[in-house]
Amino acid sequence: MAGTGVFADVLDGEVYKYYATTRQTQYRVQACTQEEVNKVMDAAKVAQKAWARTPLWKRAELLHKAAAILKEHKAPIAECLVKEIAKPAKDAVSEVVRSGDLVSYTAEEGVRILGEGKLLVSDSFPGNERNKYCLSSKVPLGVVLAIPPFNYPVNLAVSKIGPALIAGNSLVLKPPTQGAVAALHMVHCFHLAGFPKGLISCVTGKGSEIGDFLTMHPGVNCISFTGGDTGIAISKKAGMVPLQMELGGKDACIVLDDADLDLVAANIVKGGFSYSGQRCTAVKVVLIMEAVADTVVEKVNAKVAKLKVGPPEDDCDITPVVTESSANFIEGLVMDAKEKGATFCQEYRREGNLIWPLLLDHVRPDMRIAWEEPFGPVLPVIRINSVEEGIHHCNASNFGLQGCVFTRDINKAIMISDAMESGTVQINSAPARGPDHFPFQGLKDSGIGSQGITNSINMMTKVKSTVINLP
Ligand code: G3H
Repeated sequence: MAGTGVFADVLDGEVYKYYATTRQTQYRVQACTQEEVNKVMDAAKVAQKAWARTPLWKRAELLHKAAAILKEHKAPIAECLVKEIAKPAKDAVSEVVRSGDLVSYTAEEGVRILGEGKLLVSDSFPGNERNKYCLSSKVPLGVVLAIPPFNYPVNLAVSKIGPALIAGNSLVLKPPTQGAVAALHMVHCFHLAGFPKGLISCVTGKGSEIGDFLTMHPGVNCISFTGGDTGIAISKKAGMVPLQMELGGKDACIVLDDADLDLVAANIVKGGFSYSGQRCTAVKVVLIMEAVADTVVEKVNAKVAKLKVGPPEDDCDITPVVTESSANFIEGLVMDAKEKGATFCQEYRREGNLIWPLLLDHVRPDMRIAWEEPFGPVLPVIRINSVEEGIHHCNASNFGLQGCVFTRDINKAIMISDAMESGTVQINSAPARGPDHFPFQGLKDSGIGSQGITNSINMMTKVKSTVINLP
């Protein structure tokens, strides 16, 4: 098992992608040049003009067709996800099916919200007669640049593609290097559905070579990005275009002493360890009342012991993390916690990129793992003596994506939710982005704007008004 995981490199104009279980080249994708990016941008601009004039119902019809084709091709696309990003086989299929559903829902929602306009009359504002009628509707922005992360190369791409297209925009996708092949297959499904040439394009290559060129390109009218710190750099460099950013989190799970402890343990394991903790909405720190901590840690450990560790093809719960540098970073956090005296509930074990699930108890605020996002199967537990202490730790983080609180007292739950500086707080469940039509947003360094189907459609449009002046 040593060395499992995937990596990629650029050679001779192609990105070579390996799956290190076999140490064989699995895929090659084009490493696009800046000239090629320019051509794609030009085509996107031309295609968008015609697309914006295409009736809304026709745009929706094509999206429904693409959704169906995507679902029909779930097996080969899921296979790419397994090989490229080591996503467990069943989760890989779910990602594709969920993406098809997202596209269909987007088509339906788009028809409803873009099919409505607004009429204002002038005499509601002081000093005016009723001699002006203002008609407002939503118009597209132009070319949307979508940059999804490695952990959902298909789903977090279509969550940007669907809203952009239904709203009359064209779209240029820069997929993550690992996940690019799955993304190319997904884009091909849109082409098979009959979307016009140039309307949706996929630009593959190294971020270091074409990343800035794309995000600073004058042809881009909107950027929707999901990922890590790169988003902060993009937001500083991007021009005067609307930004939608989701940049990770340190999602806190606050556990009160009246909580259903079996429910807590099940959600800590699901929230902390699914896809080996490589989700921005993963539970990333447990803040638990001392009185119930021993019981919950014991229950969690019993469940952790049952997690299947191994290759994604075998549908294991814990699979290799995405890169060696990611595994090294996780290991750095673990070693720091060890030096500073955290209690290891399991033995730390790593082979190549595969890291066995690890719960760290008695973590203290001076440990890096109390604040940093491991994006791996390592979960810190901080014992607290009051709810205020938990809220304080949660709010002291630079992140504010999601959080959760476990208690049987709904009044307390709502008060804690109000006090937590997080874009979403789940009561009695682990953090999660879905269902995909729910609003999804991060506060502080976790993002800009709000996602979810409706919010994304609105974000990728502008209001345009026509005023009728009566004599
Ligand atoms: O990794 C970031 C995703 O937005 C998380 O989505 O909650 O469906 O896993 P998820």
